[in-house]
Amino acid sequence: MANNMQIEEIVRQVLASMNGSAVANAATAAPKAANGAIPATAHVAMLTELEKIEIKEVPMPAVGDDDILVKVEGCGVCGTDAHEYKRDPFSLIPVVLGHEGTGEIVKMGKNVKKDSAGKDLNIGDKVVTSMIFKDNPDITMFDLNKQNVGGADVYGLLPDDDVKLNGWFADYILIRGGSTVFNVSDLDLYSRILIEPCAVLIHAVERAKSTGILRFNSNVVVQGCGPIGLICIAILRTMGINNIVAVDGEQKRLDFAKELGASATVSFKDYKGIEALAGAVEAAFGGHLADFAFQCTGSPIAHANIYKFIRNGGGLCELGFFINGGDATINPHFDICSKEITIVGSWVYTLRDYATTFDFLKSAKKLGLPIDKLITHTYPLEEINEAFKTNLAMTGLKIATINK
Ligand SMILES: NC(=O)c1ccc[n+]([C@@H]2O[C@H](COP(=O)([O-])OP(=O)(O)OC[C@H]3O[C@@H](n4cnc5c(N)ncnc54)[C@H](O)[C@@H]3O)[C@@H](O)[C@H]2O)c1
Ligand SMILES: [Zn+2]
Repeated sequence: MANNMQIEEIVRQVLASMNGSAVANAATAAPKAANGAIPATAHVAMLTELEKIEIKEVPMPAVGDDDILVKVEGCGVCGTDAHEYKRDPFSLIPVVLGHEGTGEIVKMGKNVKKDSAGKDLNIGDKVVTSMIFKDNPDITMFDLNKQNVGGADVYGLLPDDDVKLNGWFADYILIRGGSTVFNVSDLDLYSRILIEPCAVLIHAVERAKSTGILRFNSNVVVQGCGPIGLICIAILRTMGINNIVAVDGEQKRLDFAKELGASATVSFKDYKGIEALAGAVEAAFGGHLADFAFQCTGSPIAHANIYKFIRNGGGLCELGFFINGGDATINPHFDICSKEITIVGSWVYTLRDYATTFDFLKSAKKLGLPIDKLITHTYPLEEINEAFKTNLAMTGLKIATINK
């Protein structure tokens, strides 16, 4: 009969084979690696010129003591990626894009023990990254009053270097020491791909809450039903906010807004002039204007319009302008002063928002909100140019690469 130590060893081996990890043994030399062989080369989808992404084979880099090698499972295409693909505004070409990615740890340096939230990290765990930090005490995990992570580096928008594995549009990525990384093994693949855009909305809702105006029974208008506005609606629903009017001009998107929890929708294409449109929003709330509004389009006209949907003393969160979209004309007296509107802006997120996002995605699933349907098109890495074309054609919502 096996003695206790033998049994322990057998259990360890069975557990290790179940999660595909190497048998953890204190004497094992670092770095720790998965049982499955790691190929000598990796493949990255490199933007080599405007509107041209080429798959390049590169040597698999060494994994340092603080590094993590991740086998990529998939990555969402973001509006920022599309800007870079069309115009290279950040002058990054040649660049491996992709910052909404996720994958499985296949190898890690001996110093890697915990993720950025203090959770254990092991071979086989599914992870996402957020930002790469230089020591900056103003960016912390749990202090909401500290600054957002704008300005820090992010995988998928890094200049090319010798490592090459710098973005998630690849089959492997090297997460270097000093990066934020989260163990999200308890979320499915589509949820993990949606984490980054969802964090944008968790942050926006936290900003909105700071006004003190957003409450359970608030009438909330969400203007713009692209991925950003749609996720906003789903988050409001998980918070127990039920009176949500979605405004857009695309009927398919408005229909999806209802599936994600909007109580009513208004198509701006059905109304001539802002008075008629504001009247339709008021009617959709049963004769009230909105207590709070989220502006989720990049249109200056939409920014100017939204004040007309808000009641005196109401609030506004403007998050639609990730990049400069031009000037908007408003009347400060009628739109802000005399109505005493409280306005907050929102841009990217903090690390705390990432942690909240994981909980939101689980709550949304429990409530039966079809968050997964936000990913309307998937492509293998080899067809990444098609993925970008579909993104630019705006025929879907979230486009993603899913590796074979
Ligand atoms: N604050 C942040 O950190 C942050 C992060 C990511 C994206 N964004 C911004 O959020 C905006 C929305 O992102 P998205 O991916 O959902 O974009 P999207 O283009 O897919 O969606 C925008 C939606 O707005 C609708 N729209 C346009 N003009 C309108 C109007 N006048 N009234 C009502 N609806 C109108 C469009 O029909 C479309 O459905 C973008 O401008 C993006 O730059 C901000
Ligand atoms: Zn993004």
